[in-house]
Amino acid sequence: MAEGFIKTELDQIKEAGLYRRLRRVECDQGPILTLDGREVINFTSNNYLGIANHPDLAAAAKEAIDRYGCGSGASRLISGNMTLHEELETKIAEFKGTEAALVFNSGFQANTGILSTLAGEGDAIFSDALNHASIIDGCRLSRAKTVAYAHGDLGQLEAALKQAAQSRRKLIVTESIFSMDGDEAPLAGMVDLAEKYGAMVMVDEAHATGLYGATGAGVVAKLGLGERVVVQMGTLGKALGGFGAYVAGSRALRELLINRCRSFIFTTALPPAVMAMAIAAIDLISREPERRETLWSNCRKLTEGLHALGFHVGASSSPILPLIIGDAAKCMKFSEQLLDRGVFAQGIRPPTVPPGTSRLRITLMATHTREHIDQALKAFEEISVSV
Ligand SMILES: Cc1ncc(COP(=O)(O)O)c(C=O)c1O
Repeated sequence: MAEGFIKTELDQIKEAGLYRRLRRVECDQGPILTLDGREVINFTSNNYLGIANHPDLAAAAKEAIDRYGCGSGASRLISGNMTLHEELETKIAEFKGTEAALVFNSGFQANTGILSTLAGEGDAIFSDALNHASIIDGCRLSRAKTVAYAHGDLGQLEAALKQAAQSRRKLIVTESIFSMDGDEAPLAGMVDLAEKYGAMVMVDEAHATGLYGATGAGVVAKLGLGERVVVQMGTLGKALGGFGAYVAGSRALRELLINRCRSFIFTTALPPAVMAMAIAAIDLISREPERRETLWSNCRKLTEGLHALGFHVGASSSPILPLIIGDAAKCMKFSEQLLDRGVFAQGIRPPTVPPGTSRLRITLMATHTREHIDQALKAFEEISVSV
């Protein structure tokens, strides 16, 4: 049978201990989930500010549906460009302090599309070795020569930039907060190098949007680097609690993407309700900066508690706390043991992370309470005693 390979591949995945299955969430995305029928405390979410189920977002979505209906009916360049798309883009540009912004259907589509628009054959992309899969795929799609420099290593980046002197265009791409390690890229040094060697910088703020800088605009804004970073992208589906993504930058960048970016052009526009939720989310986080304070305080509590128990989470400067276990099977067992105690912290294995670095990716939310964190620490303690 021609499709016999499907089962063979699945068997190979299982033998390698890398089989994945979907779990079912039967409630809204709060700090407590009903997961496959049982109640657990959720330490897996990117809904860092806890607003994915906020009534303001729900009300905005309902009002948008009443006024504009459910679907957008076409791609943006045909008849799917609705008032709310442009309202959101104006809002994002203001929020990010850029000339313009453009909304994408997802961060994955944004990264693949932006990279393959800005770089092509004869160009060079310099990509952090731990960049997200969507960045890796964008590099591949672009057909530019891609150099993966060691994670956060400015020395290697500079050496690679020197070697690529003959390339037509040079583009450095990095996440600002790394999705699986929670650490921050050395953006200031990177921007200096870019200017020294005539390269552009693109920063993925997927895990930073909503969290850093005076207004939550991201790490680029926190460091005052907005003028020196050509492309800032981020998602609307993590701390902003909704769905979709954006790119923020110059008006010319927006126009080029509208004209050339295949993942923007050849797809149905996001529906009005999604736009309205994002507008409400930006208003909400601007109005309630204390959400970020609570999040940071929760991060400190859990990190200190884990350290006191002898669990060392990596050098995180974010709500993403990586507890490196190493072996994939051991990591998944640890995750199951926590789940048995009502604590959900996802085990992350290759290919999401490099082989030998399987980890629990523990994420905090502003809506976790002291009790949730204490319960998690109790579960960690019980497991450490039992092994
Ligand atoms: C760093 C990073 N970039 C991009 C994405 C993709 O964004 P989206 O979920 O909106 O497709 C993710 C995760 O989803 C991510 O972690």
